Amino acid sequence: MKEHSFFLRLGFRCEDTQLINEANQFHAIFEDIERRSHSFQADTDPQTIRQFNSEVHNAAANIWAFKRKVLGLILRCQLPGGTNFPLLVDHVSREANYFRNRLEELNNGRLEPLPDAIIDENVFFLKIMADHAKFIGHLLDPSERKLVEQAREFSQDFDTLMYQAIDLSSMRPQSQTQPLLSQFVDENRVSVKSLRDFKKTARDLIEECRIKSIIHPLLADHVFREAERFLFILDMFDRSLSGVKVNKKEIMH
Ligand SMILES: [Fe+2]
Ligand SMILES: [Fe+2]
Repeated sequence: MKEHSFFLRLGFRCEDTQLINEANQFHAIFEDIERRSHSFQADTDPQTIRQFNSEVHNAAANIWAFKRKVLGLILRCQLPGGTNFPLLVDHVSREANYFRNRLEELNNGRLEPLPDAIIDENVFFLKIMADHAKFIGHLLDPSERKLVEQAREFSQDFDTLMYQAIDLSSMRPQSQTQPLLSQFVDENRVSVKSLRDFKKTARDLIEECRIKSIIHPLLADHVFREAERFLFILDMFDRSLSGVKVNKKEIMH
């Protein structure tokens, strides 16, 4: 959320001082939250964590509202010349919503049953990955033809995987058999691994200034870390489906 505030700010025009201030405020709020989150230990009083979670939940709800407001302004053509893509603003608002829901689940002590979590997390993250491929493709310089083409292929691959996930979702609960879910997780994992490697390469090339683009190095790293996160979740599902007992701490991670 802290980095989202930074990306949004980069895309505002210099005369949009009010929006720039709001983005900077969110940056400071989430920077402070991030710093404080590191101070908790496994033996911290659960009540303290609950209190902290609800504060973060509130901040996530506020940044969600800010992002939707910005999306409305862009779609009404009230920020001409700004460089935030509408899909990017929608994307970061979906991530804020995801984070907010997660905090709610944790504070209520209720997690979705595994077969539902597997489908829902995949529908969510496959769309996120498909969006990333589109952002990369559109922010690379058009003269980087090979990379643009690769990004377009990833975009198509992940669109297809997302629709497959939606199909599996609509066939619920009959589709929630161990072999189908296991195949679903395996197939997605193969594609996410290769997208993760592509993002890592892009990140390194951008960092070293070896390719032409308008991608901020932090954005390149951000999308790479989100692919890593998705892989972590897929690995956890894979282990749960294969019967290996997943550590409770890990689920809560
Ligand atoms: Fe993000
Ligand atoms: Fe993202």
